[in-house]
Amino acid sequence: MFRTDIGTDVEQAARWLELGQCVAIPTETVYGLAANALDPVAVARIFETKNRPAFDPLIVHVLDFAAAEALVEEFPDPLRQLAVRFWPGPLTILLTKRVIIPDLVTAGLPRVAIRAPAHSLTRQLLMRLPFPLAAPSANPFGYISPTTPQHVYDQLQGKIPYILDGGPCAVGMESTIVGLENGSLIVYRLGGLPIEALETSVNMRIVVQKHSSSRPTAPGMLTTHYAPRKPLLLWPSAEDWPKAASEGQRVGLLLFYPRKSLPPHNQSIVLSQTGDLKEAARNLFSALRSLDSASDVDVIWAEECPAVGLGRAINDRLRRAAAKASE
Ligand code: TXA
Ligand code: MG
Repeated sequence: MFRTDIGTDVEQAARWLELGQCVAIPTETVYGLAANALDPVAVARIFETKNRPAFDPLIVHVLDFAAAEALVEEFPDPLRQLAVRFWPGPLTILLTKRVIIPDLVTAGLPRVAIRAPAHSLTRQLLMRLPFPLAAPSANPFGYISPTTPQHVYDQLQGKIPYILDGGPCAVGMESTIVGLENGSLIVYRLGGLPIEALETSVNMRIVVQKHSSSRPTAPGMLTTHYAPRKPLLLWPSAEDWPKAASEGQRVGLLLFYPRKSLPPHNQSIVLSQTGDLKEAARNLFSALRSLDSASDVDVIWAEECPAVGLGRAINDRLRRAAAKASE
């Protein structure tokens, strides 16, 4: 057990990490649960703290392109262009790892996922440390990612010594994960960098890989990831509205945009008053957590967003949450 401190002291975070402990770090996407990526004992602590199965590999966080290059066998051209253009930022790139990366980090896979995060405190931390940071999202395995220090504290209090407080996450959606396969750019996870941005930057076929509940290539593709504990239904049709009430279910609504005609409900959260997808992404995980913990809500009804830009990643997370409910 630890006393979990929350603060902005980069030096204190660095000292715990140098001791091989885990520290929660802010990034522009979500909070990460970080440890020394080159130390298998420290990396094992991440899995233990999150209750994460060892088959699910971790993202390695670096300061910049040069730091990433030192960890991989090669940085093929289209991926290099993406790194140069979008780092630091919400883009994770799969590259063939060098032996210096422990197998535990990649769950035995030949490729390592690497990203340079854009948050200034975490960049200061990476500048100060002589090693890169392995960091999954700082939530118990399968649950919604944390976008504030309080989210991390609520779930990992007592398990880690320090949460580096960088305020609420600016993007609020996990990174987009890409890699090359047979001359195509594969998107393994939709995320904080919209596909449209990739399309304008590389001149090649872009394939969005479907996630699967059975045999994922990236376990983040598991259909039931990112889910609240309560059942979540994608916006039921108006004919179904009376059903919940007749079954005595108290409904919490998650709306993209303010609407006039609403089903009977106990609570509602609007992700963006103006229908702005960036704002909606930023608010999504806090809203889901809040409805999930509300004592007057039994079931969450969520409205999908327009399927453009960050809307695709938002819809992806909502569908996975809904898939859990129907399991
Ligand atoms: O924005 C983000 O990506 C956040 C912040 C902290 O950087 N991190 C994050 O990590 O979302 P995590 O572990 O919750 O999700 C990373 C996903 C996992 O689903 C994992 O399966 C996949 O990336 N992944 C990691 N390494 C991989 C690899 N070598 N091959 C295939 N998939 C990999
Ligand atoms: Mg995660």
